[in-house]
Amino acid sequence: MNAQKPQRFIPALKYRVFTRFYDTVVRFTTRESIFKAALVKQSVPLSGEHLLDVGCGTGTLTKLMALRTPELQVVGLDADPVTLELAQKKLSPFGNRVTLQQGFAQQLPFKGDSFEIVVSSLFFHHLTTEQKSEALIEIFRVLKPGGRLHIADWGKPSSFFQRVLFFIVQLLDGFDTTQDSVENTLPILIENSGFSHIENTCYFPTSLGTIRLFQAAKP
Ligand SMILES: C[S@@+](CC[C@H](N)C(=O)[O-])C[C@H]1O[C@@H](n2cnc3c(N)ncnc32)[C@H](O)[C@@H]1O
Repeated sequence: MNAQKPQRFIPALKYRVFTRFYDTVVRFTTRESIFKAALVKQSVPLSGEHLLDVGCGTGTLTKLMALRTPELQVVGLDADPVTLELAQKKLSPFGNRVTLQQGFAQQLPFKGDSFEIVVSSLFFHHLTTEQKSEALIEIFRVLKPGGRLHIADWGKPSSFFQRVLFFIVQLLDGFDTTQDSVENTLPILIENSGFSHIENTCYFPTSLGTIRLFQAAKP
C-alpha cells in the first residue's frame, strides 16, 4: 500500500460530462443484464458474508449483489464522488447493509482479511498494468483466507470482428489501460498477486467487444 502517491483515475465514460449517461450507454452496449447476472450467479454470496465491489461506479452490480442475498454486507468503493452520488440514490433503500466509500483500488481503505468476496465489473480496464497489479495486491490483502475474487471486464476478443469493435473502447478509455484486455494479461496478474484457482469461466461477445468473467481464490 502506498499512502503517499497522489492518485488520478479515468471516470466511468472517461469524460465527466458523460457520467450521467453511463447507465444508459452500458445497458444498451454491453449486454449488461446478462453478464452481471452471470457474475452474481458465479460469486454465490452467502448471508452474513462481507462483499466488496471495487470500482462500483453507479452501483448497478452492487445493487444486484445486495438483492441476491439478504443479510449480505456490501461495500461499494469508487474513486469518483460523482458516480458515488448516483450509486447512493440506487442503494439508499438497503440502509446500512450497503455502504459506499470513496477511495482508490490501489490503496483500499480497509483492514486486511475484511471480506469473503470481492467483485468488480468493467473496472480493471481503467488501470495501467502497474495499477492493476497494485489493485490486485490490495484486493488479496483485504480478502480473508479462502476468500473469492470475481471479475467481469473487457477481455481477449473472441473473434476478429470483436477485436475491431473493441477499438472503440480503446479510443475512449485509452490504449495504455486497455491493451491488457486484448493480450489477456489479467489472469497472469491475478496469479502473480498470490491467487490460486484462476479461471476464465465464460465470455460474452457484445457490440463493443468481448466481456470475460474470471474467478480466483485466496489460499
Ligand atoms: C466503467 S466504470 C464501471 C462501473 C461499474 N462497476 C459497472 O460495472 O458499471 C469504472 C469505474 O472505475 C472507477 N475507477 C477508475 N479508476 C479507479 C481507481 N483507481 N480506484 C477506484 N475506482 C476507480 C471509475 O470512477 C468508474 O466509476
